[in-house]
Amino acid sequence: MAGPTPVEASAPGKVILLGEHAVVYGEPSLSFAINRRLRVAAEPGSPSTTVNGDPLDAHRHAYMHQAIQHVASRSAFRLRTESELPSASGIGSSAALSVATVAALLRLLEGKPPLAPRVAQLAFETEFLTQGAASPNDTTVSTAGGGVLLAPSPEPGLELLWRLDRNERTWMAHRVVLPPLPLVVAHSGQRSRTADQVAKVRRFVERDPSARDLLREIGTLTREGVQRLRQNDWVGLGALMDRNHECLHALGVDTPQLERLARAARGVGGTYGAKLTGAGGGGSLIVLAEDPRRVRAVLEAHGAQAFVAEATPRGLEVTA
Ligand code: MEV
Repeated sequence: MAGPTPVEASAPGKVILLGEHAVVYGEPSLSFAINRRLRVAAEPGSPSTTVNGDPLDAHRHAYMHQAIQHVASRSAFRLRTESELPSASGIGSSAALSVATVAALLRLLEGKPPLAPRVAQLAFETEFLTQGAASPNDTTVSTAGGGVLLAPSPEPGLELLWRLDRNERTWMAHRVVLPPLPLVVAHSGQRSRTADQVAKVRRFVERDPSARDLLREIGTLTREGVQRLRQNDWVGLGALMDRNHECLHALGVDTPQLERLARAARGVGGTYGAKLTGAGGGGSLIVLAEDPRRVRAVLEAHGAQAFVAEATPRGLEVTA
């Protein structure tokens, strides 16, 4: 006899246009959700939790394990995942996994779809505890969909979605209305753990006061980016991306592969700007360009896996 239908939650990946790493220290970040998703199906399981048929493993399934600890530590589940987001590639697979897992578990336990701000806060806690440090950027964008500005205080003229708190820090999530962006995402082929890159920046911040200047500069670039975006000013936005990339390079999270790809992209006529996106140390590059398809072809010829990014307004979706 067939069992009960599993509940399902799905959440999108993300691209950070400006502001990664600095957002961990309270500076703003500007991101949007992309049209690639991760799905989690959940049903009660017994005697212990399984993921895609294997026993839940605290290391291999670190984010799901943490989400269960946080939301429903005394229950057992049968969980299945399906993803269009390669892991450790800078486009938000762990955030989408945290968001979709938290939402599916709450839906199963409470019998109704959970509210987005609650999922965003719990998924942020899940990422924070799994990685040892994090901002709520990726989990917020994955929950909310569309364009999002995270900032330490309310931003005049932007709709406030919700606020998130952790220890002494507060982040306000704002809706940013996005024009269609001519943007390419290129994976360098090098996988990278966000936790390692965040820890690397923290060590730099602790030993060298100039790191704080770089983080503040990234915050200024990000605020300016919101204005450039509003004016569809791709030349201005591209210049901000290039400078943001230099700051990330100086913070130590760039790699020779990403540099090689950035140089190749900037060599294509009509490229406005390029930067690494996400934690760095590998992962992906984004390129704003007049002719994104041409840039994609050039980056593929350099060995990258590239696609033209399509933004999506669809954030978290949960079985009714
Ligand atoms: C990773 O996608 C973004 C970082 O800023 C980390 C975080 O915000 O938690 C590097």
